Amino acid sequence: MHNAKLPAHVGLIMDGNGRWAKKRLMPRSFGHNAGMNRMIALAEHAQKLGIKYLTVYTLSTENLSRPREELDGLYSLFRKYFTENVKRLYANKAAVRVIGDLSALPEDIEKLLRDGESNSPESASFTLIFAINYGSRTEILRAVNAAAESGVKLDEDGFRRLLYTDGIPDPDFIIRTGGEVRLSNFLTFQAAYAELYFSDVLFPDFSDDEFDGAIEEYSRRERRFGKIR
Ligand code: IPE
Ligand code: IPE
Ligand code: MG
Repeated sequence: MHNAKLPAHVGLIMDGNGRWAKKRLMPRSFGHNAGMNRMIALAEHAQKLGIKYLTVYTLSTENLSRPREELDGLYSLFRKYFTENVKRLYANKAAVRVIGDLSALPEDIEKLLRDGESNSPESASFTLIFAINYGSRTEILRAVNAAAESGVKLDEDGFRRLLYTDGIPDPDFIIRTGGEVRLSNFLTFQAAYAELYFSDVLFPDFSDDEFDGAIEEYSRRERRFGKIR
């Protein structure tokens, strides 16, 4: 694969865990567990390909209204990931970053996620960004209110510095699994010029090969950014 055509930043909307579990007559949490395992392997694969940033949509602001039981299952997965699996990521010289409103999560989770960021290796060549209790509308409103409070008019760069994604380049490519063709409040400001890719495959079945196929399609896209060629 030619490097110039590799996206630097990939956004991944990991959808379809619930349906994957339902097909197996298992509870939704079984699907989330399988999805988490798939994500861990995919992140390592993406790093090997030479992708610099992978943002995984893990929990949306809207998902917070799901049943307590399902949320508790997800929190248990975060606890496990940020105490055990994250070490392997660090060992591979990869950093963790978290975007979203963590204050609404259980306190121990908020601390674990923040520690996950601060314990990251300093010279990382790959960053895995977890979007947790993330929503673009909340992110944008938060930035607008901060700007209004400061009383200073902002240009685009100034506004970007107030977003959760401060310092992270815009996603070049957004992949959504699970068959729905929408962004569901994911990086809507940052994705203004992202290439979009939708797969019917339910996330736990989204293999490294499926990912490679998506990247290959990206490499054939012509990004014009409004210009003519
Ligand atoms: C995506 O899978 C993961 C989260 C939203 C936490 P879903 O849980 O939305 O799975 P489906 O869409 O119901 O199959
Ligand atoms: C989007 O999936 C959120 C995540 C994958 C974390 P949803 O399943 O919540 O999206 P909708 O409700 O189908 O739009
Ligand atoms: Mg879904």
